[in-house]
Amino acid sequence: MKVLHVAAEVYPLVKTGGLADVTAALPPALAEAGADVRLLLPGLPAILDAVQSARTVVDIGACFGALRVRLLLGRMPGTQLPVYVVDAPHLYRRRGGPYQADDGTEWPDNLQRFALLGWVAAHLAADDADPAWVPDIVHAHDWHAAMACAYMADHAATPAAAVFTVHNLAFQGLFPSQDWALLGLGSRFMAPSGLEFHGQLSFMKAGLKFADKVTTVSPSYAREIATHEFGCGLEGVVRGRGADVSGILNGIDEAVWNPAADTAIARRYDRDQLAGKQACRRALQDTLGLAVDPHALLLTVVSRLTSQKGLDLVLAALPALVADGVQFAVQGTGEPALEAAFRNAAQAHPGRVAVHIGYDENRAHQLVAGADVIAVPSRFEPCGLTQLYGLRYGTPPVVRRVGGLADTVADGDPASQTGFVFDAATPGALEAAVRRAQHLRRDAAAWQALMQRGMAQDLSWAGPAQAYLALYGQALAARAAAPRGPGA
Ligand code: ADP
Ligand code: GLC
Repeated sequence: MKVLHVAAEVYPLVKTGGLADVTAALPPALAEAGADVRLLLPGLPAILDAVQSARTVVDIGACFGALRVRLLLGRMPGTQLPVYVVDAPHLYRRRGGPYQADDGTEWPDNLQRFALLGWVAAHLAADDADPAWVPDIVHAHDWHAAMACAYMADHAATPAAAVFTVHNLAFQGLFPSQDWALLGLGSRFMAPSGLEFHGQLSFMKAGLKFADKVTTVSPSYAREIATHEFGCGLEGVVRGRGADVSGILNGIDEAVWNPAADTAIARRYDRDQLAGKQACRRALQDTLGLAVDPHALLLTVVSRLTSQKGLDLVLAALPALVADGVQFAVQGTGEPALEAAFRNAAQAHPGRVAVHIGYDENRAHQLVAGADVIAVPSRFEPCGLTQLYGLRYGTPPVVRRVGGLADTVADGDPASQTGFVFDAATPGALEAAVRRAQHLRRDAAAWQALMQRGMAQDLSWAGPAQAYLALYGQALAARAAAPRGPGA
């Protein structure tokens, strides 16, 4: 089966969150399971610079406001994975993030930038771009790639099936409806049964409506997005797809996140040799200027600082927990108000609270390895990877019972417990969960068993890859059985 993954980011080249970890690890896992997998990425500078031995597949010429567009084919650095890159200097070759300029404003031409990505994917699927390789499945990730599903639906002769994965429904790719003509899509798509969403154009809706199968990154989030509370206004569209929507849990890249082979941490360790974890803990306290106190519960947060992540709960619970001997090590970037509040907390509690405002992969590994617990108190969480990294590193997660957090962390039965789960999105509920961790840690044998149960979990991509392969088969069957498009 030939599978084309379409995404805007991929670790380690371009990453704003867990999406990049997934697009880096899932394609090789599918290849391992026997699929013929390729990636399609926009020609952002970090991608163009890194992709190896790229050659031109087709000179596309002028489109979407760009004068010179080419489709290149090379390999992901350090791997054999073939990667197509859309080289469109006018749209992609610029400093700043993949979606935003450095000052945090969205790129004004995001409609053209990500319509182009989907359009090229649809042409690959239509046997129009690379006659040497035509995918059976186009697997599009998040709104950035979702237009592939609309362009494929607009071309009835395309035999390939489209699978769309929602990594985060809160980011939807909404554009003014007057920009409609720039898309070059049949007019039947500019309707409530198409891309129209409350007077705007929604790229997310293109994926939700026109993919043959829709997935999210956990079974719980698949149920949640059909509700008003989590559906971000698209719950009706999600419900309309019925059983076509399912959840497949993310795995983690066990080569990148492995305490037994991690070169970023002070000392390596594994489930049977946990001494190295203590060395990592001491090194972390030392380098962060935290009191080297073996009794304190050292809690870490590695996160985007946005309201999704519920870190206001951490800030509110922090003074009482610090007074009770808890230490905090926080790393993140995001909303200026949250960044400032964490900086203030560090100033108010020297030696107990350490905060690094910034993005740093190596330090993230050190924080996960050196901490006693990792907190992910999200308001919503499609899957979440940091709690999985915590499990793998013997750092039990403290999480809210929502989305993928609820699906991956067990609490309640001491025999199967892997972390601490709380329900209400309140500082008190988080505080009570942290106190339970503090209490259990006083029992060294019980704590070690808790760590080892987490470390023994199978978090690899092998299982999820099999689930995606089965779903691809269903998508192809659905594609063969029914036409697509608005009103179909
Ligand atoms: P999301 O994609 O919603 O941000 P995930 O838990 O799926 O949440 O993925 C977050 C990813 O980003 C993880 O790999 C995490 O380690 C990483 N990350 C987030 N913030 C930082 C940071 N400040 N420094 C380093 N890595 C970070
Ligand atoms: C999104 C979600 C996160 C998920 C990640 C990868 O960024 O917020 O929960 O783990 O995508 O699927």
